[in-house]
Amino acid sequence: MSTSINEKLKLILTEAEELLLAAKTPADVEEVRIRINGRKGSITAAGKELGTLPKEERPEAGKALNITKNKISRLFAEAGERINSTSSVKVESGLDVTLPGRKWAFGKKHPITQTIDDCIDIFRRIGFIVADGPNIETVYHCFDALNSPKDHPSRGLSDTFYFPDGRLLRTQTSTVQIRVMEKQEPPIRIIAPGPCFRPDNPDASHSANFHQLEGLYIDRNVSLADLKSTLLYFARELLGDKAQIRFRPHFFPFTEPSIEYDFSCTACNSKGCRVCKNSGWLEISGAGMVDPSVLKNVGYDPTQWSGFAWGMGVERIAMIRHGINDIRYFYDNDIRFLNQF
Ligand code: DAH
Repeated sequence: MSTSINEKLKLILTEAEELLLAAKTPADVEEVRIRINGRKGSITAAGKELGTLPKEERPEAGKALNITKNKISRLFAEAGERINSTSSVKVESGLDVTLPGRKWAFGKKHPITQTIDDCIDIFRRIGFIVADGPNIETVYHCFDALNSPKDHPSRGLSDTFYFPDGRLLRTQTSTVQIRVMEKQEPPIRIIAPGPCFRPDNPDASHSANFHQLEGLYIDRNVSLADLKSTLLYFARELLGDKAQIRFRPHFFPFTEPSIEYDFSCTACNSKGCRVCKNSGWLEISGAGMVDPSVLKNVGYDPTQWSGFAWGMGVERIAMIRHGINDIRYFYDNDIRFLNQF
C-alpha cells in the first residue's frame, strides 16, 4: 500500500486531535469540521486520492481511510461533549444557576366561588349576613321542619341521597333556615350559600352536586312587596339598572304564597336570545312568604313575626352572567375554561 496515503492519514488524525483539543466553543469545533471534513477538507482530499491509486492498493487504503474517519468522528463527539458540559456554570450540587427560572401559574377562584362571593357582597350591602349549615342533614331539617308532606316526591330515593343511618345529603339550602331559626330569635336577615346534592343524571342543566344561595328575612309586618324589592335590588346589582323581575305562582311546602321568579334577560334587552332561550326572561328559582307552620316548628309566634325566603341556583346565575350554556363546564376542571374568569 502506498505509504504516502498512510502517512497523510496519520497526519490528518494528529491534526484533528490537536485542533479539537484546542477548541473551546461549538464554533471552534465547526471550524475544525470544515477543515477536515469540508468539501476542501483534508480527509475529503485523501478520499479523492484513493481513486488515483493502483487497483490492488485500493482495498487496504480504503480500510485505513475508514478507520481514520471513525477515529476522527469519535474525536468530534468527545470535543462536543466536553464543550457542552463546560458551557454552563455548574455548582457542586448540580444546580445550574444560569438556567431560566420555572414559571409558577397563579391560582384563581373557581367561577362558582366568584359568583357566590359577588352575591354575598350584593346582599351584605343591605344588611344580610352569611349563615352556614351542614351538608349531611337530618330528615327533620331537610323536610319535616320545612313542612314537606310525608309523601312528597322530593323525599324519595330518586330525589335524595340517603345514608344507611337515615341521614341524607341536603337537597336544598333551605335547611339552613331551620338551623338558624332554631338558634336565634327574630329579627333575622341571612343568606346561606352552599352545596346541594340530588341524584340527577348530569346534562347541560343538571348536576348531582350544585350550589344554592338561600335567603331568609324575618321581622314584624314583612310583606311580599319587601321580597320583590329585595330580589329586584339583587337583579339590578347583578345584571345592571335595566333588569326587571317577574313573579309566577308556584308551590313550595315551606312558603305561602309561593312563587317562582324570573329576571329579565339583559343579554338581549328581553328581545329573546340564546341565553334566555328566546323568552326574554331568565328563570332563577323559588321564593315566597315563610309558611306560618314553619315559624311554629322553630318556636316563633306567627302572629308576631312574618318573613320571606328565597333560594337561587348559583350555577344558573354564573351561566347567565358569563353566557355559558352547559353546567358541566364548571366541573370538568379544564384549565383552559377556568382561566377565562
Ligand atoms: N328550596 C327550593 C328548591 O330547592 C328553592 C326555594 C323555594 C327556596 C322557595 C326558598 C323558597 O327559600 O322560599 O327548589
